[in-house]
Amino acid sequence: MNDKIVLTGIKPTGIPHLGNYVGALKPLIELANNYKTYIFIADLHALNSIKDAKLIKQYSYEIAALMIALGLNLDNAVLFRQSDIMGVYQLSNFLMNVTPKGLMNRAHSYKAMVEKNTEANLDIDSGVNMGLYTYPILMAADILLYNSDVVPVGADQKQHVEFARDIAGYFNNTYGETFKLPEPIIGETNGIIPGLDGRKMSKSYDNTIPVFVTESELKKKIMRIITDSKTPEESKNPDESTIFQLYKHFAKADEIEQFRQMFLKGGMGYGTAKTILFEKINSILSEPRKEYERLMANKDELDAILHNGAERAKIVAEKTITRVKKAMLG
Ligand code: TRP
Repeated sequence: MNDKIVLTGIKPTGIPHLGNYVGALKPLIELANNYKTYIFIADLHALNSIKDAKLIKQYSYEIAALMIALGLNLDNAVLFRQSDIMGVYQLSNFLMNVTPKGLMNRAHSYKAMVEKNTEANLDIDSGVNMGLYTYPILMAADILLYNSDVVPVGADQKQHVEFARDIAGYFNNTYGETFKLPEPIIGETNGIIPGLDGRKMSKSYDNTIPVFVTESELKKKIMRIITDSKTPEESKNPDESTIFQLYKHFAKADEIEQFRQMFLKGGMGYGTAKTILFEKINSILSEPRKEYERLMANKDELDAILHNGAERAKIVAEKTITRVKKAMLG
């Protein structure tokens, strides 16, 4: 096993969809077969936007069950709830003292709020709470608390990992070598999974297919994929078809080539193509779906797994806090 430490957080603000699965979750599960991996449910990061405790809890269970059902290797991977290790808030506060305010002003998500407010003629900080403003520092604390080397994230989170690296650098310059400098790895498929309407699959477009829905729901969703109006006889361009683009991420190379030929040759209607896509996705997800449903009906089992993860994470977290306290306070 490689001795690099991988870490990532998944924010419990929605139900993961097939775009998340292909772009982030599946590659993460593969990484966890070869690396010591920390995967946590970033419930503290959800607090600046979600004010409903029940909802955060429900989403958190769903993410945990989903990762386990998809085969996450729990020997290598430490799966836990961020809020079970409150040391992350301590580290976050320590890091504030070496973090320039100007760095936070440059964060994409904060800047986007400022721009929106400016356009609407509002105070630039209207609707901005300190949880949102200091979000990157909490994320740096996540990353540095567990001595992470690599942080797999979507492209939208790259800046946050770079900030964590900057903050680690400021700290090391001030107090001597304390933190490793983490590096982002950006999932190449992120954002290129099309949704039902052909735009990228995203919650904000309301065009997603959740990873675990019932078989009939999955079929219904797939049948709703928007296509052009070519007749069954006509030749079709696979590279412009959402059906084919989705199929590519689930099938084997020879199956993909065969499906491509069926598009090009003509003689296959979109209804048939959708049925083929449904059967492929369903064959891959039907066993994990059963396990997911079993886990969601056994919250005690999920709690036990998350608790065990937290116990393992705590050992590392406490060492880091001790090291930081010593460096800063003697
Ligand atoms: N901010 C990330 C997101 O919105 C989630 C996250 C929180 C995270 N802490 C992290 C990701 C640490 C990587 C490392 O997706």
